Amino acid sequence: MKKGEPFYEGKAKILYATDDPDLIIQYFKDDATAFNAQKRGTIHEKGIMNNRISEVLFKYLESRGVPTHFVQRLSDREMLVKRLQIIPVEVIVRNRIAGSLAKRLGLEEGGTLSPPVLEHCYKSDPLGDPMINEFHIRAMGWATDAEIKEIEKLSFRVNELLKDFFDQRNLILVDFKVEFGRHHGKVYLGDEICPDTCRFWEKDTLEKLDKDRFRRDLGKVEDAYQEVCRRVCN
Ligand code: C5P
Repeated sequence: MKKGEPFYEGKAKILYATDDPDLIIQYFKDDATAFNAQKRGTIHEKGIMNNRISEVLFKYLESRGVPTHFVQRLSDREMLVKRLQIIPVEVIVRNRIAGSLAKRLGLEEGGTLSPPVLEHCYKSDPLGDPMINEFHIRAMGWATDAEIKEIEKLSFRVNELLKDFFDQRNLILVDFKVEFGRHHGKVYLGDEICPDTCRFWEKDTLEKLDKDRFRRDLGKVEDAYQEVCRRVCN
């Protein structure tokens, strides 16, 4: 398998073609952005940690029956994945009130959401990923009814599995974002799962161990990523 040309550069990753049309390489950068890229910075070795964390989580989910795009970790910052035709929808699952939900509804962060809440956003950097619902997805033809149902089922399954995984590591999975795509007609979980895309709170102290430390200038950003990496990978 030979690494080809880069064909996409996002905020946190670069995608490279390979000589196999079914496979691509995700390269994890240290760049961090927040508030629709109005705030920019780097988090030392974030790419290495997110690659490792995502590898462990994809393998865990796959072993529990969730189809993911993960094939193999190639190096510190590179992961071989199936080439997906991305469905332009971000799915957010929330177990606690936090972030944009707290702001939108004028609520304190921390309250438990039972059952968990599922939200959809349209994947668009220029528009700042606006919130949409299933009717938009259907009307725009971004996914079929069957795919929407499958994505919802998989998102809740991922939530149950990850909630349990992190609970065993003394972390509360507050919320997270996932993306899906098609590969030979089947829906797969794509992108990455890491402290950039999830909120983790320490179970006893509720200390934030995720990208909110960068977003909110809370300090000890690298330490938080390292701590999550240690608990996930050991
Ligand atoms: O900001 P908000 O509260 O909507 O984020 C919910 C969850 O989704 C958080 O874990 C956040 O890290 C993640 N997210 C993401 N990418 C986005 C928006 C949110 O990973 N574009």
